[in-house]
Amino acid sequence: MDKNLAGTLIEKAIEQLQFSYAPYSNFKVGAALLAKNGTIYGGCNIENASYSPTNCAERTAFFKAVSEGIKEFEAICVVGGKDGILTGYASPCGVCRQVMMEFCDPETFQIILATSKEQYEIFTLEEILPLGFGQKNLT
Ligand code: THU
Repeated sequence: MDKNLAGTLIEKAIEQLQFSYAPYSNFKVGAALLAKNGTIYGGCNIENASYSPTNCAERTAFFKAVSEGIKEFEAICVVGGKDGILTGYASPCGVCRQVMMEFCDPETFQIILATSKEQYEIFTLEEILPLGFGQKNLT
């Protein structure tokens, strides 16, 4: 992944932190999902007083895109931290990894974990979800 593109996605993910609705955990998460057509979908976590309806930032971004007919993706950047302060990587939860598995090629889809434009690491979906179960298993 080109450094400029990574920087653009990191900036967009950080921007999303302002929309995070996290009154229960105060853990703010932002995501920027790059579709193959070049569009970037932002997402934030959205919590709920009943806790379990909480939606992670990654899934917010995916569901925004899919709900607009976009189903091909290249990469996602995720940032997050207590009170929106980025002290470490916010790694996608298992449910979000499984949603990525539904729409992305595990060998090529890139997950950028960042604390700033200068500090980031890139993983493939296969690296963070080894032996993942997907559509291919059902054919
Ligand atoms: N969260 C995300 O948005 N993405 C993840 O992958 C991990 C967790 C959110 C959910 C909840 O609002 C808060 O972080 C604390 O779990």
